[in-house]
Amino acid sequence: MDKIKPILFDIYPELEGKVPWIPLLTNLPSKVERLKELEKHLKLEGGEIYIKRDDKVHNTYGGNKLRKFEFILGEALKKKKKGIITLGGIGTNHGLACAIITKELGLKCELNLYLQPLTWHVQRSLLLYDFFGAKLHFTKSFELGVLKSLLFRLFHPKYYLMSIGGSPILGFGTPLGSVGFINAMFELKKQIDEGSLPIPDIIFVPAGSSGTSAGLTAGCKLLELKTKVYPVKVSIDIVVNPKTLMKIANKTLKFLRKRDKTIPDVKVRENDFQLIKGYLGSTYGVKTVRGQNAVDLIYDLEGKSRDFRLETTYTGKTMAAMLDFLEKEENKTKKVLFWNTYNSNDLDKYLRETKFDFEKLPKKFHRYYNNKLFQCWQVTDCPEDIRNKCRAYLNHEYRFWKVTECKLDDNKKNDALEYLKETMNLEDA
Ligand SMILES: Cc1ncc(COP(=O)(O)O)c(C=O)c1O
Repeated sequence: MDKIKPILFDIYPELEGKVPWIPLLTNLPSKVERLKELEKHLKLEGGEIYIKRDDKVHNTYGGNKLRKFEFILGEALKKKKKGIITLGGIGTNHGLACAIITKELGLKCELNLYLQPLTWHVQRSLLLYDFFGAKLHFTKSFELGVLKSLLFRLFHPKYYLMSIGGSPILGFGTPLGSVGFINAMFELKKQIDEGSLPIPDIIFVPAGSSGTSAGLTAGCKLLELKTKVYPVKVSIDIVVNPKTLMKIANKTLKFLRKRDKTIPDVKVRENDFQLIKGYLGSTYGVKTVRGQNAVDLIYDLEGKSRDFRLETTYTGKTMAAMLDFLEKEENKTKKVLFWNTYNSNDLDKYLRETKFDFEKLPKKFHRYYNNKLFQCWQVTDCPEDIRNKCRAYLNHEYRFWKVTECKLDDNKKNDALEYLKETMNLEDA
């Protein structure tokens, strides 16, 4: 595999060797594409919409986590650790990325998982963590997950403790993950200079543990871009708030400046970004009406022809915020970039290999499968010859009945749809 060295190391050569890093990403720079169908749909008047395809940065698992891991796991390997312990909700993408990459690197992976709203995404994620060799532990809450992870680390010094989402929590933890997104901002600047896109007025990006948006904001500041980052809050207050975001951004800048004095002495202030609230719903991971509508709309207009999909926890809510913004008359001329943070590589082939055998998982997770049906093919027991050719099969986020011709007979189909619509539980947010 070609080593794709961080652009930051070219611009600030002192950093190389002083900032831990390992090559993981296989497809850099991630592409920038224009979403013309969406522009038409929104009737923009001179405005333009671009997407940064971080969903394909790695051949197995794309998305935002791997940009962080190049630096965080770089440190873990430098410290000669033999495994990673980390935590997240039971459907954590961070945990899945960690399971996949630790396997690639020959490291062990332990995941402390706490409850989040149950969905098919959660069901499939649990099977995939196990498939990629992670060891799963159930914990009753986020706080207990933190405690258990700290204790595990205490008794297993050969493990590296990676904080939730790969970002510092309450000021604790390494800022290395956000270095990956400062670097990503420099990558984008190069694409701007090469003419792939104009300087965006705004970048929309989900804020879950805030490391991604903090890195992008710090990157804009260093580059003196007029671009403003709009992190969309998709997680609880304790991890997403302006102070935390600023702290992470400034901790990351300080970390870099300590290693290369030529880096400008800039600080991120509260008015350097605009935290967008109102899209989360009652808590992390719930499906909301606006988030789900955004997932369906984008799948239909752009995603199915370009091979990417949004999901309802992060990118759907962020897209919903961007759509609302662009619906406003005064914003019809804006140039915006949607930073796509969710993997779009096909994981279904691995999922099929699990044979959906949830009994292989630790017992505490079995209750998330027994009589818990979220998908049409689960409800109807859809025959293999039909489901194998159907786009709805294994899909996990769009309302498949809106975009799929069901081949089952009408009674069976209608009963299933009735059941699914009732159990979807979309929150009014
Ligand atoms: C798909 C996706 N987007 C965005 C995020 C949020 O990134 P951050 O935790 O850096 O705010 C996550 C975090 O898990 C994620 O899985």
